[in-house]
Amino acid sequence: MTSSLVNTAQNILNSNFQEKKGFTLPCKGLYPFQWYWDSGFIAIGYAHYDINKAKSEIETLLNAQWNNGFIPHIIFHNESNSYFPGPDFHMAELHLDASTEYKSTGMTQPPVTGFVLEKIYQIAKDKIDILDFIKKNIDKVYDNHTYFYKNRDINNEGLVYIYHNWESGTDNSPVWDDIWKTMNSPDYDFERRDTSHVDPSERPTKKEYNYYLHIIDIAKENNYDDAKIAELSPFLVQDPLFNAVLIKSNNALINLYKIIGNNEDKITQLLKWTNKGVKSFNTKLYDDELGAYVHYDLRNEKPIRLVSSSSFVPIFANIPSKQRAAQLISTMITKFGGEDMYLCASFDPTNERYNPKKYWRGPVWINLNWMLYYGLLDYGYNEIAQRIKSDSIELVDKVGFYEYFDARKSVYNTESKGCGGNNFSWSAALFLDLINN
Ligand code: GLC
Repeated sequence: MTSSLVNTAQNILNSNFQEKKGFTLPCKGLYPFQWYWDSGFIAIGYAHYDINKAKSEIETLLNAQWNNGFIPHIIFHNESNSYFPGPDFHMAELHLDASTEYKSTGMTQPPVTGFVLEKIYQIAKDKIDILDFIKKNIDKVYDNHTYFYKNRDINNEGLVYIYHNWESGTDNSPVWDDIWKTMNSPDYDFERRDTSHVDPSERPTKKEYNYYLHIIDIAKENNYDDAKIAELSPFLVQDPLFNAVLIKSNNALINLYKIIGNNEDKITQLLKWTNKGVKSFNTKLYDDELGAYVHYDLRNEKPIRLVSSSSFVPIFANIPSKQRAAQLISTMITKFGGEDMYLCASFDPTNERYNPKKYWRGPVWINLNWMLYYGLLDYGYNEIAQRIKSDSIELVDKVGFYEYFDARKSVYNTESKGCGGNNFSWSAALFLDLINN
């Protein structure tokens, strides 16, 4: 079975690859442009069989970087009327530093590029060639981290904010529900496109979209100025997934700069950011009672006391102590690891907000599983790591390379489909990495 799945996974990536522009669609029809963290995960998949495509994926992403180091969450390389909101709604060009060459959004996504470069270095057979590539690109990634710590760490605690739920990557997580209650959004008149591609019951609601658009409007009124956004955005959150990814990437950049040599000042700076971030993570974002890391709502000055798969990602970045990791993993197994459950649901299955089919409100996502797998291995939890890996492989083997999956095993006695889009690029790419490990 594995060899035919490998072929299928490679075919999905190859057919989503845009030859002329050199990047890969996350999913045909549903996501017709380039997305920041998708590109990173996709590049890891390519590294296993076509290193030039891996490089191209990273280069096309970094080409769209702004003068201030910012990298946008979507790069609109082409026209498409199958997606809303497009470039005319986002109007990222309002920001003085925006790229003049590429249309994009004015928000970002989890900064995976640092650890992706390290991963690609480890996978690539020709180390000299890949190091050459990394040398050409690594400073752009460093500049991206500088952008974050300079503009988004408003309390100087080594934790950066996100100002939009789309920046988290976990778009409609129940974690945001209480923030929506604090907002007064206009009712926008617009035509959704996502729901014409996939089952609307598996997507965010119209009401949620009103909030999403309203935050963008506030940012636009302020020309996407970071300081103004920090002051005025009704959504301002320190997200454990986003910050853990940033710290993981800091550490990866340190490792790569050591291999390259002669970059002591950057290594020192990266270490400072990491140390400060890890400390704040463990004092501010850890909830002892829940036994998990949680989000912090900076706008309303309170922790959001809910457990999601984002709560566990700090193990991927070496953030908890051994003892705390044990507590964290016990929370994962107790709440998310029941007999009928594939690991790892995206939201606490014991919470009333859990919905097994609705996007980030419960289903399993392969990219989260991938990060948790490596984190578990790092802390020596080999058995649970193997479970996450075999659960991921079993799901794609059963139903295909979907965007997300109902976590309940019994559901597949009668259902033969996953959720959201099919032939989804990062599910294919990370499968290729998992089975090669
Ligand atoms: C959805 C996901 C986001 C992903 C994008 C493209 O918006 O929530 O994480 O990057 O689709 O796949």
